[in-house]
Amino acid sequence: MNTQATVSAQPNLALVKYWGKKNRGINVPATSSIGLTLNGIETRTTLTLMDRGTGGPRIKVNGTELQDSRFEVFFRQAEKLFSPRLRQTGISFSDIIEKLAVDSTNNFPTAAGLASSSSGLGALAFGLDALLETRLERSALSALARSGSGSAARTLYGGFVEFREGSTRARQLAGNDHWPEFRVVVFTVSAQAKKTSSRAGMNAIKKSSPCFPAWVRDSRSLFKEMRSAVLDRDIEKTGTIARLSYLRMFATMFAANPPLVYWQPESIEIIHALEDLRSQGIAVWETMDAGPQVKALCEEKDLADVLAAFHNRESRPIILSAGKGPEVIETWK
Ligand code: PMV
Repeated sequence: MNTQATVSAQPNLALVKYWGKKNRGINVPATSSIGLTLNGIETRTTLTLMDRGTGGPRIKVNGTELQDSRFEVFFRQAEKLFSPRLRQTGISFSDIIEKLAVDSTNNFPTAAGLASSSSGLGALAFGLDALLETRLERSALSALARSGSGSAARTLYGGFVEFREGSTRARQLAGNDHWPEFRVVVFTVSAQAKKTSSRAGMNAIKKSSPCFPAWVRDSRSLFKEMRSAVLDRDIEKTGTIARLSYLRMFATMFAANPPLVYWQPESIEIIHALEDLRSQGIAVWETMDAGPQVKALCEEKDLADVLAAFHNRESRPIILSAGKGPEVIETWK
């Protein structure tokens, strides 16, 4: 067992969205999603076993100590997963938790619709395995990460990752070298943390949106089409379906009572600007999540044209591609 482990994990951006949970299990998705683990932004997490108990786990995110019910659920599941593997060591998982300090930093805006919870919980699951030297399978860690955040199940793998409706773990659809020309251009409209978390949002929508059952039904065909579009590296099909998926997800929010609106005026300006580019023959589409940021989807050959159209924006877009998935940075005995 190590006394310290530092790991990195990248957020996973959904091209077809997970939005809504089944009535059973923890964060079991009502819709199948496909996401891309990103290269270029990351969560870096250091897990340290202190000499003495500190009433842990003590969890800091970007320097601020956090109490979140998500962590309680996560650590209850972690206990079930890791306890049998710790028997030979004579140390119980609750002793470890008591001494555990977690320090997590994102090099991108947190809780602002950039999937920081996916990389945060993914890094925590992957980091515990590195700290305890348990060498669990990725799929077991994916299931653990899911208990903290549904989209985190996808961050345990690099490249393109699918997470099927009713499933407890994600799996890789294609590696990070499958589509090297694929680019995500993130336009940060607001770096402020959102008022309604994805979790609270999707639960409220499921209860009150008349569009929710149609969304769930329709997502099945979008998932199938996206799967083949990604495997064929078909940018036009990928972009078109990604657009349908996020806009139909937002349709469930607009139809809910009370309605949920994550968009800002600038989000809509960017959507229109991208539409203008498409009408000029530039192959660019976009997606959005539970926040105001717009993420353009294109290939390297069209990147310069996309960037040129936004050269007057104050905040610089972030350019990302497919990432490798979580990595151990260093460990200490
Ligand atoms: O895993 P959560 O609770 O952060 O929810 C993720 C929801 C979306 O980002 C909107 C969609 C997705 O599949 O990542």
